[in-house]
Amino acid sequence: MHTQLCDQLGIEFPIFAFTHCRDVVAAVSRAGGFGVLGAVGFSPEQLAVELDWIDEHVAGKPYGVDIVIPGKYEGMGELDPETLAEQLRAMVPETHLQFAKRVLADHGVPELPEGESNSLQLLGWTAATAAPQIEVALRHDRVRLIANALGTPPADVIAEIQGSGRLVAALCGSPHQARRHHEAGLDIVIAQGGEGGGHTGDVGSVVLWPQVVKAVAPTPVLAAGGVGTGEQIAAALAMGAQGVWTGSLWLTVEEADLPPAQKKQLLDATSRDTVRSRSFTGKPCRMLKNDWTDAWEADDAPEPLPMPLQYMVSGDCVARSHRYADKALPVMFNPVGQVVGQLERVNRAADVVQRLVEEYLEAVDRLNVLSQL
Ligand SMILES: Cc1cc2nc3c(=O)[nH]c(=O)nc-3n(C[C@H](O)[C@H](O)[C@H](O)COP(=O)(O)O)c2cc1C
Repeated sequence: MHTQLCDQLGIEFPIFAFTHCRDVVAAVSRAGGFGVLGAVGFSPEQLAVELDWIDEHVAGKPYGVDIVIPGKYEGMGELDPETLAEQLRAMVPETHLQFAKRVLADHGVPELPEGESNSLQLLGWTAATAAPQIEVALRHDRVRLIANALGTPPADVIAEIQGSGRLVAALCGSPHQARRHHEAGLDIVIAQGGEGGGHTGDVGSVVLWPQVVKAVAPTPVLAAGGVGTGEQIAAALAMGAQGVWTGSLWLTVEEADLPPAQKKQLLDATSRDTVRSRSFTGKPCRMLKNDWTDAWEADDAPEPLPMPLQYMVSGDCVARSHRYADKALPVMFNPVGQVVGQLERVNRAADVVQRLVEEYLEAVDRLNVLSQL
Protein backbone atom coordinates (compact mmCIF):
# COMPACT_ATOMS: atom_id res chain seq x y z
CA MET A 1 0.00 0.00 0.00
CA HIS A 2 3.07 2.21 0.01
CA THR A 3 2.77 5.13 -2.44
CA GLN A 4 4.93 8.15 -3.17
CA LEU A 5 2.74 10.28 -0.91
CA CYS A 6 3.68 8.06 2.05
CA ASP A 7 7.32 9.07 1.59
CA GLN A 8 6.44 12.72 1.09
CA LEU A 9 4.44 12.84 4.32
CA GLY A 10 6.41 10.27 6.33
CA ILE A 11 3.48 7.88 6.88
CA GLU A 12 3.14 4.10 6.66
CA PHE A 13 -0.26 3.79 4.96
CA PRO A 14 -1.92 6.30 2.57
CA ILE A 15 -5.13 6.22 4.62
CA PHE A 16 -6.30 9.76 5.37
CA ALA A 17 -8.94 10.17 8.07
CA PHE A 18 -11.00 13.36 8.16
CA THR A 19 -12.59 13.96 11.57
CA HIS A 20 -13.66 16.76 13.89
CA CYS A 21 -12.31 14.86 16.87
CA ARG A 22 -8.72 15.35 18.05
CA ASP A 23 -8.57 11.88 19.66
CA VAL A 24 -9.31 10.27 16.29
CA VAL A 25 -6.67 12.40 14.52
CA ALA A 26 -4.00 11.34 17.00
CA ALA A 27 -5.08 7.67 17.01
CA VAL A 28 -5.06 7.32 13.21
CA SER A 29 -1.70 9.05 12.80
CA ARG A 30 -0.19 6.94 15.59
CA ALA A 31 -1.50 3.82 13.79
CA GLY A 32 0.41 4.72 10.61
CA GLY A 33 -2.34 6.57 8.73
CA PHE A 34 -2.82 10.34 8.50
CA GLY A 35 -5.39 12.05 10.73
CA VAL A 36 -6.85 15.36 9.54
CA LEU A 37 -8.67 17.68 11.93
CA GLY A 38 -11.68 19.54 10.49
CA ALA A 39 -11.21 23.10 11.77
CA VAL A 40 -14.48 24.64 10.65
CA GLY A 41 -16.28 24.50 14.00
CA PHE A 42 -13.37 25.90 16.04
CA SER A 43 -12.46 29.48 16.84
CA PRO A 44 -8.74 30.15 16.30
CA GLU A 45 -8.23 29.97 20.09
CA GLN A 46 -10.04 26.61 20.37
CA LEU A 47 -8.15 25.30 17.35
CA ALA A 48 -4.84 26.16 19.04
CA VAL A 49 -5.93 24.14 22.11
CA GLU A 50 -6.90 21.15 19.93
CA LEU A 51 -3.64 21.20 17.95
CA ASP A 52 -1.52 21.57 21.12
CA TRP A 53 -3.33 18.49 22.48
CA ILE A 54 -2.73 16.51 19.28
CA ASP A 55 0.96 17.45 19.34
CA GLU A 56 1.21 15.94 22.80
CA HIS A 57 -0.60 12.73 21.83
CA VAL A 58 0.51 11.99 18.28
CA ALA A 59 3.88 10.41 19.16
CA GLY A 60 5.77 12.68 16.77
CA LYS A 61 3.73 11.54 13.74
CA PRO A 62 2.45 13.98 11.10
CA TYR A 63 -1.18 15.06 10.74
CA GLY A 64 -3.28 17.58 8.81
CA VAL A 65 -5.82 20.37 9.23
CA ASP A 66 -8.86 20.95 7.01
CA ILE A 67 -10.28 24.42 6.52
CA VAL A 68 -13.24 25.69 4.53
CA ILE A 69 -12.76 28.56 2.06
CA PRO A 70 -15.60 28.11 -0.41
CA GLY A 71 -14.85 29.06 -4.01
CA LYS A 72 -18.23 30.82 -3.96
CA TYR A 73 -20.36 32.13 -1.12
CA GLU A 74 -22.98 34.82 -0.58
CA GLY A 75 -21.47 38.30 -0.43
CA MET A 76 -18.03 37.07 -1.54
CA GLY A 77 -15.84 39.96 -2.66
CA GLU A 78 -18.73 42.43 -2.16
CA LEU A 79 -19.10 42.81 1.59
CA ASP A 80 -16.73 44.68 3.87
CA PRO A 81 -14.70 41.97 5.71
CA GLU A 82 -14.68 44.11 8.89
CA THR A 83 -18.45 43.91 9.29
CA LEU A 84 -19.07 40.70 7.35
CA ALA A 85 -20.98 38.86 10.06
CA GLU A 86 -23.41 41.74 10.71
CA GLN A 87 -24.06 42.29 7.01
CA LEU A 88 -24.73 38.60 6.44
CA ARG A 89 -27.01 38.48 9.49
CA ALA A 90 -29.12 41.26 7.99
CA MET A 91 -29.61 39.12 4.88
CA VAL A 92 -31.31 36.21 6.74
CA PRO A 93 -35.11 36.40 6.31
CA GLU A 94 -37.27 36.06 9.42
CA THR A 95 -39.38 33.40 7.61
CA HIS A 96 -36.43 31.00 7.59
CA LEU A 97 -35.68 31.55 11.28
CA GLN A 98 -39.33 31.00 12.21
CA PHE A 99 -39.57 27.86 10.04
CA ALA A 100 -36.48 26.34 11.69
CA LYS A 101 -37.81 27.21 15.16
CA ARG A 102 -41.11 25.51 14.35
CA VAL A 103 -39.44 22.28 13.21
CA LEU A 104 -37.58 22.05 16.53
CA ALA A 105 -40.60 23.05 18.59
CA ASP A 106 -42.68 20.35 16.85
CA HIS A 107 -40.13 17.80 18.10
CA GLY A 108 -40.09 19.18 21.65
CA VAL A 109 -36.41 20.14 21.51
CA PRO A 110 -35.81 22.68 24.31
CA GLU A 111 -34.37 26.16 23.62
CA LEU A 112 -30.80 26.78 24.78
CA PRO A 113 -30.48 28.67 28.07
CA GLU A 114 -30.61 32.49 27.85
CA GLY A 115 -27.46 33.94 26.25
CA GLU A 116 -26.30 30.65 24.69
CA SER A 117 -28.31 30.80 21.48
CA ASN A 118 -26.36 29.80 18.40
CA SER A 119 -28.75 31.50 16.02
CA LEU A 120 -27.19 33.74 13.36
CA GLN A 121 -23.59 32.76 14.17
CA LEU A 122 -21.16 32.84 11.26
CA LEU A 123 -19.16 29.62 11.03
CA GLY A 124 -15.60 29.52 9.59
CA TRP A 125 -16.96 29.35 6.05
CA THR A 126 -15.36 32.38 4.43
CA ALA A 127 -11.80 33.37 3.50
CA ALA A 128 -11.85 35.91 6.36
CA THR A 129 -12.83 33.35 9.02
CA ALA A 130 -10.41 30.68 7.74
CA ALA A 131 -7.31 32.94 7.65
CA PRO A 132 -6.70 32.98 11.44
CA GLN A 133 -7.22 29.18 11.52
CA ILE A 134 -4.44 28.78 8.94
CA GLU A 135 -2.16 31.00 11.04
CA VAL A 136 -2.75 28.74 14.03
CA ALA A 137 -2.16 25.56 11.99
CA LEU A 138 1.13 26.91 10.63
CA ARG A 139 2.41 27.43 14.18
CA HIS A 140 2.25 23.63 14.71
CA ASP A 141 5.22 21.74 13.24
CA ARG A 142 3.55 18.32 13.05
CA VAL A 143 0.86 19.75 10.75
CA ARG A 144 2.21 18.65 7.34
CA LEU A 145 -0.87 19.18 5.17
CA ILE A 146 -3.64 21.74 4.94
CA ALA A 147 -6.71 20.82 2.92
CA ASN A 148 -9.53 23.04 1.74
CA ALA A 149 -13.07 21.79 1.48
CA LEU A 150 -15.09 23.72 -1.05
CA GLY A 151 -12.93 25.14 -3.79
CA THR A 152 -9.44 26.15 -4.87
CA PRO A 153 -7.83 28.17 -2.06
CA PRO A 154 -6.77 31.72 -2.98
CA ALA A 155 -3.23 32.04 -4.46
CA ASP A 156 -1.83 33.81 -1.37
CA VAL A 157 -3.09 31.02 0.90
CA ILE A 158 -1.48 28.35 -1.32
CA ALA A 159 1.80 30.29 -1.38
CA GLU A 160 1.77 30.74 2.38
CA ILE A 161 1.20 27.04 3.10
CA GLN A 162 3.70 25.80 0.52
CA GLY A 163 6.20 28.44 1.60
CA SER A 164 6.12 26.92 5.07
CA GLY A 165 7.19 23.55 3.62
CA ARG A 166 3.77 21.94 3.91
CA LEU A 167 1.52 20.34 1.32
CA VAL A 168 -1.77 21.89 0.27
CA ALA A 169 -4.74 19.88 -0.96
CA ALA A 170 -8.36 20.51 -1.88
CA LEU A 171 -11.47 18.44 -2.45
CA CYS A 172 -13.33 18.32 -5.75
CA GLY A 173 -16.35 16.59 -7.23
CA SER A 174 -15.63 16.94 -10.96
CA PRO A 175 -12.69 16.86 -13.40
CA HIS A 176 -13.40 20.54 -14.09
CA GLN A 177 -12.85 21.53 -10.43
CA ALA A 178 -9.85 19.18 -10.31
CA ARG A 179 -8.22 20.99 -13.23
CA ARG A 180 -8.68 24.33 -11.46
CA HIS A 181 -6.86 22.90 -8.41
CA HIS A 182 -4.12 21.55 -10.65
CA GLU A 183 -3.66 24.86 -12.46
CA ALA A 184 -3.41 26.67 -9.13
CA GLY A 185 -0.48 24.40 -8.23
CA LEU A 186 -2.01 22.31 -5.44
CA ASP A 187 0.10 19.39 -4.25
CA ILE A 188 -2.79 16.92 -3.87
CA VAL A 189 -6.29 16.72 -5.33
CA ILE A 190 -8.95 14.87 -3.34
CA ALA A 191 -11.65 13.43 -5.62
CA GLN A 192 -14.86 12.92 -3.67
CA GLY A 193 -17.62 10.84 -5.23
CA GLY A 194 -21.27 11.67 -4.57
CA GLU A 195 -21.77 8.79 -2.11
CA GLY A 196 -19.38 10.49 0.33
CA GLY A 197 -20.47 12.19 3.55
CA GLY A 198 -20.55 15.97 3.90
CA HIS A 199 -20.50 18.41 0.98
CA THR A 200 -20.45 16.42 -2.18
CA GLY A 201 -21.27 16.41 -5.88
CA ASP A 202 -23.50 13.93 -7.67
CA VAL A 203 -21.05 11.80 -9.65
CA GLY A 204 -20.22 8.44 -8.08
CA SER A 205 -16.69 7.52 -6.98
CA VAL A 206 -16.03 4.71 -9.46
CA VAL A 207 -16.78 7.09 -12.31
CA LEU A 208 -15.12 10.18 -10.82
CA TRP A 209 -11.80 8.87 -9.47
CA PRO A 210 -10.19 7.76 -12.78
CA GLN A 211 -11.46 10.91 -14.52
CA VAL A 212 -9.74 13.11 -11.94
CA VAL A 213 -6.54 11.01 -11.94
CA LYS A 214 -6.33 11.55 -15.69
CA ALA A 215 -7.26 15.25 -15.53
CA VAL A 216 -4.53 16.27 -13.08
CA ALA A 217 -1.70 13.77 -13.75
CA PRO A 218 0.98 13.68 -12.41
CA THR A 219 -0.47 15.47 -9.36
CA PRO A 220 -1.33 12.83 -6.74
CA VAL A 221 -5.03 12.12 -6.21
CA LEU A 222 -6.67 10.85 -3.03
CA ALA A 223 -9.88 8.88 -3.59
CA ALA A 224 -12.76 9.91 -1.33
CA GLY A 225 -16.41 8.93 -1.04
CA GLY A 226 -17.58 5.47 -0.07
CA VAL A 227 -14.35 3.98 1.26
CA GLY A 228 -14.92 1.77 4.28
CA THR A 229 -12.98 -1.41 3.53
CA GLY A 230 -9.55 -2.46 2.29
CA GLU A 231 -11.09 -3.86 -0.91
CA GLN A 232 -12.29 -0.36 -1.72
CA ILE A 233 -8.77 0.98 -1.08
CA ALA A 234 -7.38 -1.62 -3.51
CA ALA A 235 -9.93 -0.45 -6.09
CA ALA A 236 -8.94 3.19 -5.57
CA LEU A 237 -5.22 2.48 -5.94
CA ALA A 238 -5.94 0.31 -9.00
CA MET A 239 -7.62 3.35 -10.57
CA GLY A 240 -4.49 5.43 -10.07
CA ALA A 241 -5.16 7.12 -6.74
CA GLN A 242 -2.21 7.48 -4.36
CA GLY A 243 -4.32 6.93 -1.28
CA VAL A 244 -7.80 7.26 0.19
CA TRP A 245 -9.44 10.13 2.07
CA THR A 246 -12.15 8.84 4.41
CA GLY A 247 -14.65 10.53 6.72
CA SER A 248 -17.76 8.54 7.65
CA LEU A 249 -15.71 5.57 8.81
CA TRP A 250 -14.37 7.46 11.82
CA LEU A 251 -17.69 8.71 13.20
CA THR A 252 -18.38 5.47 15.05
CA VAL A 253 -14.91 4.59 16.34
CA GLU A 254 -14.40 4.34 20.09
CA GLU A 255 -12.39 7.59 20.23
CA ALA A 256 -15.04 9.67 18.36
CA ASP A 257 -16.83 12.12 20.63
CA LEU A 258 -20.36 11.74 19.23
CA PRO A 259 -23.17 11.17 21.77
CA PRO A 260 -23.78 7.39 22.11
CA ALA A 261 -27.36 7.73 20.77
CA GLN A 262 -26.01 9.35 17.59
CA LYS A 263 -23.39 6.60 17.16
CA LYS A 264 -26.12 3.97 17.51
CA GLN A 265 -28.24 5.77 14.93
CA LEU A 266 -25.32 5.60 12.49
CA LEU A 267 -24.60 1.93 13.23
CA ASP A 268 -28.28 1.10 12.61
CA ALA A 269 -28.53 3.06 9.32
CA THR A 270 -28.38 1.45 5.89
CA SER A 271 -26.76 2.80 2.73
CA ARG A 272 -30.20 4.02 1.59
CA ASP A 273 -30.77 6.23 4.63
CA THR A 274 -28.74 9.24 3.47
CA VAL A 275 -29.74 12.22 1.33
CA ARG A 276 -27.97 15.16 -0.31
CA SER A 277 -29.61 18.22 1.22
CA ARG A 278 -28.97 21.99 1.32
CA SER A 279 -31.01 22.36 4.50
CA PHE A 280 -28.13 22.77 6.96
CA THR A 281 -25.33 24.56 5.13
CA GLY A 282 -26.81 25.92 1.91
CA LYS A 283 -24.65 23.67 -0.30
CA PRO A 284 -25.53 20.03 -1.16
CA CYS A 285 -24.28 17.95 1.74
CA ARG A 286 -24.85 14.20 2.26
CA MET A 287 -26.31 13.34 5.65
CA LEU A 288 -28.76 11.01 7.34
CA LYS A 289 -32.25 11.66 6.02
CA ASN A 290 -34.49 12.71 8.90
CA ASP A 291 -37.43 14.94 9.88
CA TRP A 292 -35.34 18.11 9.41
CA THR A 293 -34.24 17.24 5.85
CA ASP A 294 -37.82 16.14 5.02
CA ALA A 295 -39.27 19.38 6.46
CA TRP A 296 -37.11 21.50 4.14
CA GLU A 297 -38.33 19.45 1.14
CA ALA A 298 -42.02 20.00 1.99
CA ASP A 299 -44.23 22.24 -0.16
CA ASP A 300 -44.57 24.88 2.59
CA ALA A 301 -40.80 25.05 3.24
CA PRO A 302 -38.74 28.09 2.28
CA GLU A 303 -35.92 27.47 -0.21
CA PRO A 304 -32.66 26.91 1.75
CA LEU A 305 -30.44 30.02 1.63
CA PRO A 306 -26.99 30.05 0.00
CA MET A 307 -23.88 29.38 2.10
CA PRO A 308 -23.09 30.77 4.67
CA LEU A 309 -26.60 32.15 5.35
CA GLN A 310 -28.37 28.80 5.78
CA TYR A 311 -26.14 27.78 8.69
CA MET A 312 -27.01 31.07 10.39
CA VAL A 313 -30.53 29.60 10.35
CA SER A 314 -29.67 25.98 11.18
CA GLY A 315 -26.81 26.58 13.64
CA ASP A 316 -29.28 26.92 16.50
CA CYS A 317 -30.71 23.48 15.62
CA VAL A 318 -27.20 22.00 15.58
CA ALA A 319 -26.34 23.46 18.99
CA ARG A 320 -29.68 22.47 20.54
CA SER A 321 -29.53 18.95 19.16
CA HIS A 322 -26.03 18.43 20.59
CA ARG A 323 -27.22 19.64 23.99
CA TYR A 324 -30.47 17.65 23.98
CA ALA A 325 -29.42 14.68 21.85
CA ASP A 326 -32.01 12.32 23.36
CA LYS A 327 -34.93 14.47 22.11
CA ALA A 328 -33.32 15.83 18.96
CA LEU A 329 -32.21 12.69 17.10
CA PRO A 330 -34.94 13.07 14.42
CA VAL A 331 -33.73 16.59 13.50
CA MET A 332 -30.00 16.29 14.14
CA PHE A 333 -27.35 17.36 11.59
CA ASN A 334 -25.76 14.02 10.84
CA PRO A 335 -23.41 14.28 7.84
CA VAL A 336 -22.45 10.80 6.69
CA GLY A 337 -21.98 8.95 3.41
CA GLN A 338 -23.59 5.83 1.99
CA VAL A 339 -20.77 3.83 3.51
CA VAL A 340 -22.74 4.20 6.74
CA GLY A 341 -24.39 0.89 5.78
CA GLN A 342 -21.01 -0.82 6.23
CA LEU A 343 -20.54 0.47 9.79
CA GLU A 344 -21.58 -2.30 12.14
CA ARG A 345 -19.86 -1.90 15.47
CA VAL A 346 -17.69 0.41 17.55
CA ASN A 347 -13.97 -0.34 17.21
CA ARG A 348 -10.77 1.44 18.18
CA ALA A 349 -9.38 3.64 15.38
CA ALA A 350 -6.09 1.68 15.33
CA ASP A 351 -8.04 -1.57 14.81
CA VAL A 352 -9.90 0.01 11.89
CA VAL A 353 -6.58 0.99 10.27
CA GLN A 354 -5.29 -2.55 10.83
CA ARG A 355 -8.46 -4.08 9.32
CA LEU A 356 -8.21 -1.85 6.25
CA VAL A 357 -4.61 -2.93 5.67
CA GLU A 358 -5.44 -6.63 6.04
CA GLU A 359 -8.46 -6.42 3.73
CA TYR A 360 -6.37 -4.51 1.20
CA LEU A 361 -3.72 -7.24 1.21
CA GLU A 362 -6.37 -9.95 0.78
CA ALA A 363 -7.86 -8.07 -2.19
CA VAL A 364 -4.45 -7.70 -3.80
CA ASP A 365 -3.81 -11.43 -3.28
CA ARG A 366 -7.09 -12.23 -5.03
CA LEU A 367 -6.04 -10.14 -8.02
CA ASN A 368 -2.59 -11.74 -8.06
CA VAL A 369 -4.18 -15.18 -8.24
CA LEU A 370 -6.31 -14.01 -11.16
CA SER A 371 -3.30 -12.64 -13.00
CA GLN A 372 -1.60 -16.04 -12.78
CA LEU A 373 -4.52 -17.97 -14.31
C1 LIG B 1 -19.37 14.37 9.58
C2 LIG B 1 -18.62 14.84 8.37
C3 LIG B 1 -18.22 16.16 8.30
C4 LIG B 1 -17.45 16.60 7.22
N1 LIG B 1 -16.99 17.88 7.21
C5 LIG B 1 -16.07 18.23 6.29
C6 LIG B 1 -15.37 19.47 6.38
O1 LIG B 1 -15.61 20.29 7.29
N2 LIG B 1 -14.41 19.72 5.48
C7 LIG B 1 -14.09 18.81 4.49
O2 LIG B 1 -13.15 19.06 3.71
N3 LIG B 1 -14.75 17.67 4.34
C8 LIG B 1 -15.71 17.35 5.23
N4 LIG B 1 -16.35 16.14 5.12
C9 LIG B 1 -16.03 15.25 3.99
C10 LIG B 1 -14.81 14.39 4.32
O3 LIG B 1 -13.64 15.18 4.32
C11 LIG B 1 -14.60 13.27 3.30
O4 LIG B 1 -14.29 13.83 2.06
C12 LIG B 1 -15.80 12.36 3.14
O5 LIG B 1 -16.30 11.97 4.38
C13 LIG B 1 -15.37 11.13 2.34
O6 LIG B 1 -16.46 10.27 2.07
P1 LIG B 1 -16.92 9.11 3.08
O7 LIG B 1 -17.76 9.83 4.10
O8 LIG B 1 -17.69 8.19 2.23
O9 LIG B 1 -15.68 8.51 3.68
C14 LIG B 1 -17.14 15.70 6.17
C15 LIG B 1 -17.60 14.37 6.23
C16 LIG B 1 -18.35 13.93 7.30
C17 LIG B 1 -18.81 12.50 7.33
